[in-house]
Amino acid sequence: MDRIKKINVLILGSGGREHAFVKALCRDPGVDKLYCAPGNGGTEPEAVNVPLNILDNAAVLDFVKRQDIDFTIVGPEAPLANGLVDFLQAAGKGVFGPTKLASRLESSKLFTRRLLEKHGVPQPRYIACENAAQVRSAADKLGFPLVLKADGLAAGKGVFICGSPAEFESALHELLKGSMSAAAGRISVEECLTGEELSVFAVCDGTRHILLNSAQDHKRVFDGDRGPNTGGMGAYSPTPLSTPKLMDQVSAEIISPVLQAMRQEGCPFTGILYAGLMIVNSRPFVIEFNVRMGDPEAQVVLPLLESSLLELCLAAAGGDLRGTRVRVSPKTAVTVVLASGGYPGVYKKGFPVQGLESVPDAQLCHAGTLRKDDTVVTNGGRVLNAVGFGSDLKSAIRNAYEIVDKIEFKGKFYRSDIGQRGLNYLKENQND
Ligand code: AMP
Ligand code: GLY
Repeated sequence: MDRIKKINVLILGSGGREHAFVKALCRDPGVDKLYCAPGNGGTEPEAVNVPLNILDNAAVLDFVKRQDIDFTIVGPEAPLANGLVDFLQAAGKGVFGPTKLASRLESSKLFTRRLLEKHGVPQPRYIACENAAQVRSAADKLGFPLVLKADGLAAGKGVFICGSPAEFESALHELLKGSMSAAAGRISVEECLTGEELSVFAVCDGTRHILLNSAQDHKRVFDGDRGPNTGGMGAYSPTPLSTPKLMDQVSAEIISPVLQAMRQEGCPFTGILYAGLMIVNSRPFVIEFNVRMGDPEAQVVLPLLESSLLELCLAAAGGDLRGTRVRVSPKTAVTVVLASGGYPGVYKKGFPVQGLESVPDAQLCHAGTLRKDDTVVTNGGRVLNAVGFGSDLKSAIRNAYEIVDKIEFKGKFYRSDIGQRGLNYLKENQND
């Protein structure tokens, strides 16, 4: 019998998401050598960490050539918006992720709004603005509550929900000052939708797509969805909201038309399309797209994927998902982010992490950690992800918090209500 041809794989990024990719790939029979650049305190020894600047396209290509990397998987959005995929493809190298032009679905909110409008994909009403006077007049037209969004990438800090004129004035001030002003050169003023939020992940080959499990993120820093937005404080997957009927509707009304629209625009989308949706009266509306897997959603979606993630990504990057089927565990997964005191504002680094040895490998994804000889120290705002599994949401939540209690570091904090919205939804809908 032919042996499977094993390939060398490079994963780019350093967060919990990238550790989840490493975990999904390190035991794949199709992988020979696995590298992660720059990686974190957990991605090694499962992969080899490489100190690369992933925004330096030439440095990445040089490494790919030197180490005979067959396939590169790009985790975060910045290298995608920076044209890394185009750069590697031009050199004939295998890579999974969208091109620079296709990445505009995340890097320009207004590109996306216009595209969806042109192709009749459901979204909130919006007005594109280029200066403060236009923003004020748009606010008069839309009324409160409304949402102000910087057009460009803003690391999750470019969205403001304004319930009153005072909140609107302070958001506008924030958007137009200092470092935000580049991303906010243009602003989308949007109707504020209310409903249940849902994240859907579509693996796309430019034409077709396969949906993975849905997830729900918890973006605010404190319990009860209070405090400033973060990169995400926890997630669970799948969500009770995402019935097969709703997922079919998302495929038909959102993902397929967007893939067709991108082909018509001359920039077909290959990679993971992450649709951030608001479900209003059982109908999905697009809040935003990301052009990559979510973090911390990857930490709950990927471990439930029982079929090969490598084969899925290779088929999508090769432009043909037709022969690919995914197999997904019927379990539920929950992840709770352990963060550094002060995050998402100022925080200290370098505190030793205790208790790691008592946690099963499958139940921990590292994020902002650094390995120093035999100790692991904190090295970022989101430090670790405790991951729990169960036959239902309630038992998965319990399992995740058991892990949370085993780990200690100075300043450790976390949300204690991850998954609660899902439980509430189940309670409210159990008689339906
Ligand atoms: P985004 O970065 O676009 O996902 O926005 C961050 C968060 O702001 C989302 O997860 C939503 O909770 C909220 N949001 C953004 N746009 C809207 C909108 N048009 N209506 C309601 N909520 C929104
Ligand atoms: N968890 C939100 C994101 O990955 O953008």
